[in-house]
Amino acid sequence: MSRIETLIASMTLAEKLGQMTMTAASFTVTGPVIAGDSTASIRSGEIGNLLNMVGPGPVHEIQRLAVEQSRLKIPLLIGLDIIHGHRSLFPVPLAEAGIFDPLLWEATAREAASEGAADGLALTFAPMLDVSRDPRWGRTVEGSGEDSFLAVEMAAAKVRGFQGPTLAAADALAACAKHFVAYAPVLAGREYASVDISERTLHEVHLPPFEAAVRAGVATVMPAFTDLAGIPMTAHTALLRDWLRGRTGFEGVIISDYNAIRELLNHGVAADLPQAAALALHAGVDVDMMADAYRHGLPIALERGLVSMDQIDMAVRRVLRLKEQLGLFDDPYGRCHRHETEATIARRRALARKVGAQSLVLLKNDHNVLPFRTPLKSLAVIGPLADAAVEMRGPWPAAGVAENHVSVLAGMRAALPDAKVAHAAGVSIEEDDTSGIPAAVALVDQADSILLCLGEAAVMSGEAASRAHLGLPGAQAALATAVLTRAHFLGKPCAVLLFSGRPLAVPELVDQSEALIAAWFPGCEAGSAIADVVLGKVSPSGRTVICWPRSVGQIPIFYGERRTGRPANPSDKFTSKYLDSPNEPLFAFGHGLTYGAFRYSNLRLTPQAIDVRGTLQVQVDLTNEGARTACETVLVFTHDVVATVSPPLLRLAGFGRLELPPGKTGTVSIAVPAQRLQFLGTDLSPVFESGVAEILVGPRANRADLLVGTVLMQGG
Ligand code: NOJ
Repeated sequence: MSRIETLIASMTLAEKLGQMTMTAASFTVTGPVIAGDSTASIRSGEIGNLLNMVGPGPVHEIQRLAVEQSRLKIPLLIGLDIIHGHRSLFPVPLAEAGIFDPLLWEATAREAASEGAADGLALTFAPMLDVSRDPRWGRTVEGSGEDSFLAVEMAAAKVRGFQGPTLAAADALAACAKHFVAYAPVLAGREYASVDISERTLHEVHLPPFEAAVRAGVATVMPAFTDLAGIPMTAHTALLRDWLRGRTGFEGVIISDYNAIRELLNHGVAADLPQAAALALHAGVDVDMMADAYRHGLPIALERGLVSMDQIDMAVRRVLRLKEQLGLFDDPYGRCHRHETEATIARRRALARKVGAQSLVLLKNDHNVLPFRTPLKSLAVIGPLADAAVEMRGPWPAAGVAENHVSVLAGMRAALPDAKVAHAAGVSIEEDDTSGIPAAVALVDQADSILLCLGEAAVMSGEAASRAHLGLPGAQAALATAVLTRAHFLGKPCAVLLFSGRPLAVPELVDQSEALIAAWFPGCEAGSAIADVVLGKVSPSGRTVICWPRSVGQIPIFYGERRTGRPANPSDKFTSKYLDSPNEPLFAFGHGLTYGAFRYSNLRLTPQAIDVRGTLQVQVDLTNEGARTACETVLVFTHDVVATVSPPLLRLAGFGRLELPPGKTGTVSIAVPAQRLQFLGTDLSPVFESGVAEILVGPRANRADLLVGTVLMQGG
């Protein structure tokens, strides 16, 4: 018998349920104290998995309890949310996605895994694959934005990065594809609210990233807190068991979200804990995170005949198999013993700086205000986000501490050692007190150039951070008006850095500012990365992966909406539009300027006709007509001209990047497998229909900015 079967055969029910339980370690980064309950339960084998602990010392100590003091000596599986870096934080996923570079996505995940593993961890609850078309939803920041294809590409890259070539390696983490599935379309963007979307949208938009994660070998999956049309995901047999396990062949571990099994009672689908536990187990949930529903509910469910021992054994088997794959049986302390050198950490920070700079999205740059002309003699760094190292971490800081983060002010001071760099916050992030504004405005008079740092606090996005208003919080709009008006009056270059975990609806700010950067939350090297871009060492190249609404009333707004029978027509009232707002977003999906100026020409598509097995080669020439070297991201969209199911206006099907010095022309080639032109037919299975497809190439999801060609699709 294998090690795992031998173990299962010798386990008591309590020990089995221990392997199906994950509990928060009550000792974290700071505490040397092991909580009584966990300690005793780990020794007795009644807790087999932990979350939220950090540090090789503490992990080693707690692992010892399981490996040396429990009867069966089964190692613990220990996990943490490493969403965008562990100690060395990278830009938030929404920002990183906009770099459109799978190798870079993979590289940051690899570094984060390596750093997390050196802290003794073996599991991360990432990547987050929720496709969000509603920026009111705070967790938009954790994913790759509004596009499903982008989420697919990012899912695969992140899984490869976290897990590395083999899970057994001491620097690998098991990844967790979450939140399965369709958590983002919560009602009105309100966190944890109910979800009700069409079967078609589920299959077209929300499931594909999970399929991609499974194909990339993801070790675990976490069901969402939410329900889908009345069935909570934690108990969704059709999607977890039949689709995820049945259709995609996922054989890994399904870990519930925090307390989610107990919350089945709140959803109103279970009368008591045993029933809730039975529902989750039936659906295929192997591990109960923090609800203690399996430990307390399953023994009763067994007695009632609601579940069988075989089902329990199957879940235990999956958990033990994962522990075995992670090498935990062979070397339970392997990860804790891997010391990271200073050179490794320095290399990681250099990557954070590079990715940080690339992830900045230059939304607007009238009169080439940016980069600031150097040498600068004096600079005013104004605003509540200017000297805010703690905010640069973003909403999932893992083990990242503020002291380890470079604020904008610190970054600018380091980059301009000979300049006078003055600072005033002016206002706080969220309060209404405007008394500091005059002092901040006074700095404008004394400086050559001004950087105005505005936005959300990190805690205003992420989990449990829905917002009904997407403007600047507190009195920041007043600060912005005062500073920008003064700078404009004096003719001084002023650039606005907008920090946020979502696009904000700030049309006035966009109007008032000449130069505006969406900085999101750039991570540990924020200030240095920003200095690199603002002073022209690096050209920005980030794109927004979610469109920027003009107002909350436009939400949900996304480029891939379907056609309508009555497309907007200004001279016809009875067409699809608002009376009081344009339909278009402030900034389209894909928008983001560089310090270059790229002209697209000579779109070539080969072959001219393809069948479903073919691959379309898309080539386009780019000429950098600007004055600086820059990197351009090229997006390829498709549009079926006529199809059985009304097609979306545009569908992203590929992307590429090219760096060019001024005056140079180069070619970008992007391969688009014909399968990307498939859509889900009336029965929701993929079809490739004969007909004409438009291929649209350019910087952003706005028809007017795209070159258009056509190919003939030859269906079977
Ligand atoms: C709740 C969140 O929904 C989930 O994303 C996270 O992994 C768990 N808490 C654990 O922290």
